[in-house]
Amino acid sequence: MRTSIGVGLIGMGVVGSGVARLIIEGSSTLRNQVGLPLNLNKVAVRDSRKQRSFPIGKNILGEEPEKLIKDDSVQIIVELMGGEHPALEFILGAVKNGKHVVTANKEVISKHGAEIFSLARENNVRVLFEASVGGGVPIISPLMRDLVANDVKSIKAIINGTTNYILTRMANEQVNYESVLSEAQTLGYAESDPTNDVEGIDAAYKLSILSTLAFRSSIKNTDIFTEGITNLTDKDFQYAEELGYSIKLLAIATRMESRVLGRVHPAMIPSGQMLAKVDDVLNAVEIETDLVDKVLFHGPGAGSLPTSSAVVADIVNIARTIAGGTDLLDPVRLTETVEVVSIDTLSTKYYFRLEAVDQPGVLARIATVFGDCGISISSFIQKGLGDKSTDAELVIMTHKANESSVTEAVSRLRKLDVVKMIGNVIRVVE
Ligand SMILES: NC(=O)c1ccc[n+]([C@@H]2O[C@H](COP(=O)([O-])OP(=O)(O)OC[C@H]3O[C@@H](n4cnc5c(N)ncnc54)[C@H](OP(=O)(O)O)[C@@H]3O)[C@@H](O)[C@H]2O)c1
Repeated sequence: MRTSIGVGLIGMGVVGSGVARLIIEGSSTLRNQVGLPLNLNKVAVRDSRKQRSFPIGKNILGEEPEKLIKDDSVQIIVELMGGEHPALEFILGAVKNGKHVVTANKEVISKHGAEIFSLARENNVRVLFEASVGGGVPIISPLMRDLVANDVKSIKAIINGTTNYILTRMANEQVNYESVLSEAQTLGYAESDPTNDVEGIDAAYKLSILSTLAFRSSIKNTDIFTEGITNLTDKDFQYAEELGYSIKLLAIATRMESRVLGRVHPAMIPSGQMLAKVDDVLNAVEIETDLVDKVLFHGPGAGSLPTSSAVVADIVNIARTIAGGTDLLDPVRLTETVEVVSIDTLSTKYYFRLEAVDQPGVLARIATVFGDCGISISSFIQKGLGDKSTDAELVIMTHKANESSVTEAVSRLRKLDVVKMIGNVIRVVE
């Protein structure tokens, strides 16, 4: 008869240290919740000599994850090393060895989820990944369990804390992108190579995971249209505010019958909307369904303890299943087939900021381009660029237009000799 449940941890950095702390310091609570002691039996890291924020016994610390995933004293492997390889191989290896797996790895789940879920079913084990999206915010489990009777119509989310911090600072303090990014790096909110965050790649991984669960069909990160925040300037924030909007990096997936459009890009949203008020490093996910209408999940999307909370919840859920001898966990069932459509199918309102020569007839020529592309203008604001400049800045808001028409308009505007620069084009999300 089983007298304890063994956990093996791969990676003891920001999240892994928090998880080790919770398992060791919270052992009596966890024991009561699981019904058996939950023991951290083995830990594998890259460099076992490194100083740890939560020191653990040398007898359980090693550098060989390959051995750990075969260890008989371990029933649950917790993968917290991050990155695609070799994390994927460790997860697949653990599953093949009959181990349950808990991971926070959005890249691996986004790119290889379907393969992992299917292998887990064959081997009769569970792979749980609550912390892969939204850090401490419960969103995977609600999508898989609590909303299972619903047909999800759309997901609208702020799921990258780094970019949300940068955009909040740019909006509130009219500071430029480069200086906020460098401050965010000093504070530890942005990595030294911020590409994954600021180019929207991280948010696309997470949106693909949410979309896969919501629409019950494998949707990969490469299926998601992705545009980052690096083109935004303080002027965009100033004009957005004047027009009654906030600018956020939104991750949006919309279902239209059997078609799904997934997109990550900066968006102007009316300032009164709940998502517009999600500031700093916080995350929020709004799910719209046929039965509950809209629900919003909101909270800390990263950090050692919030993320560890989600990881340990997954560990406890699996441990309860092992202890109770009954499987109450929800396997991922990708039972539907959806067609992923291109951003060209989008129809929405757009904001344009451009610089043009300040002369009679220029506005008419610009308006003609919009008209020829079938785009109707809802407002036109002209801003001076200072006494010495012979150019003017134009802020144009459109009615709903097709993305493909907007692409065509941008290309035609670029060819107009009176247009000096297209500063930005931002999609509006009402
Ligand atoms: N940080 C967050 O707030 C957060 C939030 C949500 C999800 N996540 C996800 O959680 C995971 C872990 O993130 P983190 O921030 O904790 O990362 P981290 O601080 O960089 O820690 C990574 C850990 O993995 C170990 N490691 C790396 N390569 C290894 C290898 N080949 N073999 C054995 N160990 C290896 C490292 O060992 P050494 O310590 O010896 O170098 C380190 O302990 C990632 O998938 C991340 O996306 C993180």
